Amino acid sequence: MLMGGYHIAVVGATGAAGTELLRVLERRSFPVASLRPIGSARSVGKCVQFCGESIPVEKLDAGSFDKIDIAFFSAGGDVSRNYVPIACQADAIAIDKSSAFRMDPHVPLVIPEINAEDMRLHRGVIANPNCTTTVMLMALYPLHKIFRVHRVFAATYQAVSGSGTRGVEELTRQTKSWTEDEEGCSRRPAGDALSTATHHSHASHSEADKVFPHPVAFNLLPHVDSFLDSGYTKEEVKMQDETRKIMHLPELRVSATCVRVPVYRAHSVAVSAEFERAVSVEQAREVLAKAPGLQLVDEPHSNRYPMPLSVAGKDNCQVGRLRLDCALENGLSFWVSGDQLLKGAALNAVQIAELL
Ligand SMILES: NC(=O)c1ccc[n+]([C@@H]2O[C@H](COP(=O)([O-])OP(=O)(O)OC[C@H]3O[C@@H](n4cnc5c(N)ncnc54)[C@H](OP(=O)(O)O)[C@@H]3O)[C@@H](O)[C@H]2O)c1
Repeated sequence: MLMGGYHIAVVGATGAAGTELLRVLERRSFPVASLRPIGSARSVGKCVQFCGESIPVEKLDAGSFDKIDIAFFSAGGDVSRNYVPIACQADAIAIDKSSAFRMDPHVPLVIPEINAEDMRLHRGVIANPNCTTTVMLMALYPLHKIFRVHRVFAATYQAVSGSGTRGVEELTRQTKSWTEDEEGCSRRPAGDALSTATHHSHASHSEADKVFPHPVAFNLLPHVDSFLDSGYTKEEVKMQDETRKIMHLPELRVSATCVRVPVYRAHSVAVSAEFERAVSVEQAREVLAKAPGLQLVDEPHSNRYPMPLSVAGKDNCQVGRLRLDCALENGLSFWVSGDQLLKGAALNAVQIAELL
């Protein structure tokens, strides 16, 4: 390692999470001696911008991690499973944003505000948690420290950028189609001003190009990740398993329903949590107002509460709509929103690197 900086590789540098990671490294003045942006063969010939320089993207291969100190991975689980071990063999520390190693008992799964001390046990790989789980825990964990949580019900509202750049493109394409084309006009309520708009033809996209199984524009998809035999989706099970691991609560019960919504950026979660100790809204507000990485926005009578548009591009998550839950013992309901590309991915990963 050179004095004054680290040699950094970013696998997935052209993707949604990777692009954001480059911006976070710049903005937090992370000490970078050299940057190696890495993608697939599709990205060869492209450049990324970093600190005023245009740097060519390299194709991922077995030599990608030579002389690298820290390798950030955001290119999906298969790439991580194949290349994280190669990075470790080359003596790089891998910070992985995929789900490949999150539940490996030898891999710390870290949200720095919650379990930074777990990083001490790392053997070369540190995992970044699922983005929705992170947003939920930024508010749940501070409450747990005081009131001791023992079960959680959650419904998520997940932005399309959680599915990467192709998810964003699909929402844009469908939104244009709905406002301009017959397909959209036929499904809008009669009399809607938009339904009288001029019709334009648009390039059709094959089933194979699709990220989502149904239209996501003007719709809700109660389906994030694949279905399991239990009826839950993988994303919903991640919310239970990862929460247990991060909070060191192996018995905690978390029941989630994960929903994709036509929002570009920032995930939200409606949480109802039951605690061992009695909880009041005033006490909860006091705890959450002091929690790191979190902003309390809870003035319902002035219509002030967290929203995706309020947190998009911001480091802090926001929590609001605090109320005693009328169906649970010692229960509290709240709403939390957070930029999943920042706290759920890039920012959290850079915070881990800063702790290293
Ligand atoms: N989006 C989020 O909010 C979010 C949040 C937390 C975690 N993550 C995780 O981050 C990872 C990437 O997500 P994303 O949303 O950034 O996806 P994305 O926008 O689709 O980007 C995928 C990136 O991976 C690269 N890639 C794909 N296959 C590759 C291969 N075989 N070899 C080398 N590079 C390859 C792509 O390079 P090309 O451009 O060359 O294809 C691109 O840079 C996933 O594991 C995801 O679970 C995402």
